[in-house]
Amino acid sequence: MNPLRPAILAAAGSSRLRRAVTRVPVSAGVARRFVAGETRAELVAAVRNLLGYGRMVSVDFLGENTTERAMADNAVTEYLALIDDLALLAPTRGDRSADPVRPVEVSVKLSALGQALGAAGPAIATANLRTLCLRAAEAGVWITVDAEDHTTTDATLAAVYELHREFPWLAVAVQTYLRRAETECRELGARGIRIRLCKGAYREPEDVAYHRHAEVDSSYLRCLDVLMRGAGYPMVATHDPEMIAAAQRMAVDNACGPGDFEFQMLYGIRTAEQRRLVETGHAVRVYVPYGSQWYSYLMRRLAERPANLGFFLRALAER
Ligand code: FDA
Repeated sequence: MNPLRPAILAAAGSSRLRRAVTRVPVSAGVARRFVAGETRAELVAAVRNLLGYGRMVSVDFLGENTTERAMADNAVTEYLALIDDLALLAPTRGDRSADPVRPVEVSVKLSALGQALGAAGPAIATANLRTLCLRAAEAGVWITVDAEDHTTTDATLAAVYELHREFPWLAVAVQTYLRRAETECRELGARGIRIRLCKGAYREPEDVAYHRHAEVDSSYLRCLDVLMRGAGYPMVATHDPEMIAAAQRMAVDNACGPGDFEFQMLYGIRTAEQRRLVETGHAVRVYVPYGSQWYSYLMRRLAERPANLGFFLRALAER
């Protein structure tokens, strides 16, 4: 593991550091490598570009740890407008149910929809997610629910199980650093729920999460095996060449064609590899974040890779 990872992830939760970093204009410049922009207009331009190069998108309006009802309401309003804008960029043709995969999707954090607003929080977030699902169903846009820290996993899965009955295309992310990941994959997969498989980006205690790289990777491979053998639609969210190669091998072994699973990567990361996968006939979706609340997202990207941190520190030094 990157030895600085715990410290950077701790910094992600510091409001003092958040204020200091976001006040420095160059930080916003660095964030632009990983974030499509602060406004929906900037986001739309980035999405148009990605769709033009054959990549699909999942768009995240940045914001998490909502502490007031008004913030959750604001997130819902923005997501509704976002869904409408995305629908215009990739209109579905004819009978939507015939489309195996939608090119435009949104990613949603339930914490942004109010999950942490006290005892009523999970119900508020689920109701807000349902509002988004109703609009998304009309617009022909799909939704994936992001996975956040482990204290939210049960509430998030409960919301997905509840709404999946009404919206069968609703997907959820599973983090393979969690010791429970393989069980989650089996349970979600058995219900035919679309699963985005990622390694996990939060600071978690060792009793719930693997800390060693090798253990997280081996959990990823076990989960991928479950998903590739199952009837669902695996979404292989990783930049790791070993995981990508393993997914390609398992796809061949299980006779999965390019339309039976997709690769997913984050905006601004391994762009050449995204293009290469598209050119070799794979479905590739890019997770595209936008909005002014980019601090925590940027910190998680810096924690993942020392080279990203170097890039950030060099940019600060060159001011
Ligand atoms: P990892 O970080 O272990 O790196 C393995 C190898 O991949 C590296 O050795 C290198 O070869 C290559 N690599 C990685 N990053 C690179 C880079 N920047 N440039 C070049 N090579 C690089 N997390 C979460 O907790 N909840 C969620 O909902 C999501 N959602 C999500 C969606 C999508 C589409 C993606 C791609 C990722 C997420 N994540 C996430 C983040 C995820 O959990 C994880 O933190 C990052 O993807 C980093 O893990 P990797 O699998 O990429 O490999």
